[in-house]
Amino acid sequence: MWKIFSFSLMPCKTLLQTRASLTVQETENVTDFRTKVSRNPKMEMLRCNYLFPEISAREAQHLKKYPNAEVISLGIGDTTEPLPDIVASSMANYAYKLATPAGYRGYGAEQGSKELRKRISETLYKDMGIKDTEVFISDGAQCDISRLQLLFGANMSIAVQDPTFPAYVDSGVIIGQTGDVEKESGSYQKIEYMTCGPQNSFFPDLSKTARTDIIFFCNPNNPTGHAASWQQLERLVQFAQENGSIIVYDAAYAVYITEGRPRSIYEIPGARKVAIEVSSFSKIVGFTGVRLGWTVVPEELLYSNGFPVIKDFNRIVCTCFNGASRIAQAGGLTALSPEGFKAVLSLADYYKENAEILLETFRLLGLRAYGGINAPYLWVHFPGSNSWDVFNEILEKTHIITVPGSGFGPAGKEFIRVTAFGHREKILEASKRLRRLLS
Ligand SMILES: Cc1ncc(COP(=O)(O)O)c(C=O)c1O
Repeated sequence: MWKIFSFSLMPCKTLLQTRASLTVQETENVTDFRTKVSRNPKMEMLRCNYLFPEISAREAQHLKKYPNAEVISLGIGDTTEPLPDIVASSMANYAYKLATPAGYRGYGAEQGSKELRKRISETLYKDMGIKDTEVFISDGAQCDISRLQLLFGANMSIAVQDPTFPAYVDSGVIIGQTGDVEKESGSYQKIEYMTCGPQNSFFPDLSKTARTDIIFFCNPNNPTGHAASWQQLERLVQFAQENGSIIVYDAAYAVYITEGRPRSIYEIPGARKVAIEVSSFSKIVGFTGVRLGWTVVPEELLYSNGFPVIKDFNRIVCTCFNGASRIAQAGGLTALSPEGFKAVLSLADYYKENAEILLETFRLLGLRAYGGINAPYLWVHFPGSNSWDVFNEILEKTHIITVPGSGFGPAGKEFIRVTAFGHREKILEASKRLRRLLS
């Protein structure tokens, strides 16, 4: 039923040229003068392009071909709905306070405001034994993933779900944890890829997983939208305990979990000794542009020499980060107030209704779509196809941007990721266009 046309993949160089928005003057400067500084070989090792810039480049190409097309993006996974009024007002009020002699403040604590750390520990980690001093406020989860990689250094071995959010692998490449990229699969040597697909209920077969120092585990997983069950997370914690590994648990989408599943790794007994949790306000309250997140490092998490990881993380935060924006923190504090949190949950519900519409659409198309229930992503299977071809075909026929699954790891090659972030009317229009493919 699903007909795949053959589209030639554009070479990276063309894409880079397309994207370049340099003026003639700047272009001349670039070509005329070179420094004597050689490029960091680790940067050269990164796969041709970071996934999302590559998609933007293809969108730009498409718009050149169809200048009047109304492209709908179900791609990058950015939030679209306005901030809750109560959250925006608290930030505005804070900003105005900064404009008064009495209310002005400069640098804050590098670890974040005491109040926000306390509120996070008391609301999101209630009954999990997380102290406010174990919560480090950040400018977003992605920045903290890189800071954690800086903390670990080049000599750590890492495991990642396959497929998963690309930042773990890319930051691992930059810091020097990986070997060369294998051209065929796009995977890096020295990374343990833990395949997660329909065949294993989207949870890795740990009996076949090699020991690594660090296990990146994204839950609910971006891109598959799968949220692990209690048993699955218990197995993961046990695996880390047996191997003396550290889990870096990315809970950026935890608020979307509605079925009876754990939202935090610290709901699993024993996790405090083996896990760091990274999280974010981005997808909770639409702070993708405001920038606010946090990382939990429990005091009991120790290196092999008995030194507490939290002390080193504190050092990294003090050295590489000077504290999150006070204004953003004021917004985060309100988002976690009883009234603010109601608004947060209703935002999540809105996106989940979008996900339902899209799930139904793919069902009508006769396609298997996973996720979308405990996460704002759908993972759609096109058996036997190449995900970039599917991406191109959908774009060509419907002017809809999706994300090719292979961008998230070798196991994504027959899938595309579809985001449920979007204005309702766009989601409905996307659904209509996709369903038209049937007729
Ligand atoms: C799994 C995951 N972690 C982290 C991030 C980045 O979050 P932040 O906006 O807080 O940097 C994203 C963003 O899409 C994500 O999908």
